[in-house]
Amino acid sequence: MKVYGLQMVSWGAIPVKVILINEIKILDESEVKRKLEELKSQIEQCKKCPLHKERTNIVFGRGDEHAQVMFIGEAPGAEEDKTGEPFVGRAGKILELFLKQNDITGYYISNIVKCRPPKNRVPYGNEVKACLTYLNKQIEIINPKFIVILGNTALKYMLNRWNISLWNGKVERKGERFYFMLLHPASAVHDPRNYPNLKEGFATLAKLLKEKKVIIMRS
Ligand code: URA
Ligand code: SF4
Repeated sequence: MKVYGLQMVSWGAIPVKVILINEIKILDESEVKRKLEELKSQIEQCKKCPLHKERTNIVFGRGDEHAQVMFIGEAPGAEEDKTGEPFVGRAGKILELFLKQNDITGYYISNIVKCRPPKNRVPYGNEVKACLTYLNKQIEIINPKFIVILGNTALKYMLNRWNISLWNGKVERKGERFYFMLLHPASAVHDPRNYPNLKEGFATLAKLLKEKKVIIMRS
């Protein structure tokens, strides 16, 4: 587990808040692994919502279990259901491209729900309600400093907000964590006009992760 120190910097009359983040210590890594494995086996048995009926595999998450940054998508698609890994289909290829372009490494990635909705429809509220306790537990165990919200479903259920286009590239602090909002990578497939916005959003994210300096507009 990682613990961070926060240092506030004030810019006088300028209406922004700048927060510098310093990592100060790392705690028991094997404990994180054990807890994640335990949670995964629990989810493998899960029948809490109707999505369990058509799943081939649950899609738990992948990546660095001690990451500072965790990406959260919507739900598994066909490839993910087949392999049990998140973001390995078309959206995954786009995500990978942006991550490489911006030299973003050492992250963890998961979804709002762990089983594939039929025909890749958006998960229903009752399904998310049943599943979200797993994601929250996963976040608690990994304890990332930054959560990157990918698209509208993650935005709705993590921050209770709508319309990701309005929030793309912005960051919000909630409790101990910073939530960075980004268009879903699949949005570039559905509408190529989203590509430049995604590109800009990823560049802003990379800068933030590199400098560990978060600028939040005061509302
Ligand atoms: N694949 C995932 O794992 N999640 C998404 O949100 C989209 C594709
Ligand atoms: Fe359980 Fe979540 Fe799968 Fe529904 S989507 S069956 S709550 S693991």
